[in-house]
Amino acid sequence: MRLSTGLALGSGWQQHAVALLALLLLAASAVAPASAAPNPKAAELEAAINADYKFSRTNWDSAVLNDTLSNPYLESIHWSARPPRFQFTVFTQLTLNRLPTLFNMCSSYTGPLSAAVFLAVVQPLDARGRGSEALSEASRGKVEAAAAEVAEFHTKVEADPAICQLDIMFFYEVYDSDQSKLLYPVNYLRNYARMQVRTRLLAMVDVDMYLSASLSAEMEAEGSIPRYERLCAERRATVLPAFEPTKPGALGRIMVTYKRFYEPWFITCEEIMPWYDVDFRGYGMNKIILIAALNYYNYSFWIHPAAWLVHNPHTDTEVRKVVAEEASQVNKHRAVLPANALYRKLTQLFGKAKRGMMRGSYTPRTDPRQMAVYDVVRWLPRPPQLVGSPTPESVFT
Ligand SMILES: *[C@@H]1O[C@H](CO)[C@@H](O)[C@H](O)[C@H]1NC(C)=O
Ligand SMILES: *[C@@H]1O[C@H](CO)[C@@H](O)[C@H](O)[C@H]1NC(C)=O
Repeated sequence: MRLSTGLALGSGWQQHAVALLALLLLAASAVAPASAAPNPKAAELEAAINADYKFSRTNWDSAVLNDTLSNPYLESIHWSARPPRFQFTVFTQLTLNRLPTLFNMCSSYTGPLSAAVFLAVVQPLDARGRGSEALSEASRGKVEAAAAEVAEFHTKVEADPAICQLDIMFFYEVYDSDQSKLLYPVNYLRNYARMQVRTRLLAMVDVDMYLSASLSAEMEAEGSIPRYERLCAERRATVLPAFEPTKPGALGRIMVTYKRFYEPWFITCEEIMPWYDVDFRGYGMNKIILIAALNYYNYSFWIHPAAWLVHNPHTDTEVRKVVAEEASQVNKHRAVLPANALYRKLTQLFGKAKRGMMRGSYTPRTDPRQMAVYDVVRWLPRPPQLVGSPTPESVFT
């Protein structure tokens, strides 16, 4: 009797629990989008990227004078649950405040898009040069608010089947001052966004570009992907010409002055895509150096006949103003800049890369923490080991 009562009680409780669980699952599926289900590969990548992370504050002088590396932390990763519409991926990087720009890009393109989103966290030392060796509560709050914004953004993009399939990595870096925050790790972020690409064909495109509908249509068409992949054997980069609308006047906008090789964006294959040189931070030369490297690695450039990009001009960044001001002091007034001036540093870095290319000894600097990921995450394609040939000086003049 006691036993049967016990059983009856037990099963009644179980039924109740099952019903509750079903209700909870239902509620969870109603609020949680497909993207909330963690992708095991994404989680593996995230863990590997953060494996060797140690808290530090990025400092201007030690970065500029001692070439210490940036120290980005991968706070979260969201991969699209949609199948890629075609086997070609656009990758890009941006600061958190430019998510609306990413949405525009994503709306003009129907295939896979890989983005590295970044937040700078300033956490100064105190007057005695001391501070905690961890994120402060205030910094943690900022990072969590930003991560929530990124997650919400991803959910919004996932909800629209007509636009891109978006994979996002969200990084932050801790800086010791507002000045060191200017050292935006642009090429680290490009390299990470590229690491997240899971198609052989790829193109880095800055986030402030719209892509012509003809590009998505072409990639979706039968035979396009293999045709592009064949071009990689001969290191042919297909350049997507960029147009820039002029400022709107009373009569509207007119198109276009097209400048050949003005910041060429191009389609190529993973196995021959060089790394973005991480020494170039903040502003200046960070893309030019890669284009020079393409030449060094014996690429040829072919202009796409029917697809293009449109630049959506944005306001100046603070670091661009700093570099432009320093450049004008040097070029107009023959000023000698202090050793820790960014423009001076850029000139040195570019000179060093140029001499390396002329000698045939150039390799872009990469982040050892990122490269270590390739030894751990087995499904990643091996990073390219490209060999260049000496570049004549005339190329640089
Ligand atoms: C650069 O490195 C040297 C040698 O380790 C060290 O003495 C110096 O303080 C560093 N300078 C900066 C600005 O970090
Ligand atoms: C560079 O490319 C050209 C044309 O594709 C080819 O003829 C040449 O052999 C290549 N050179 C090297 C060093 O790979």
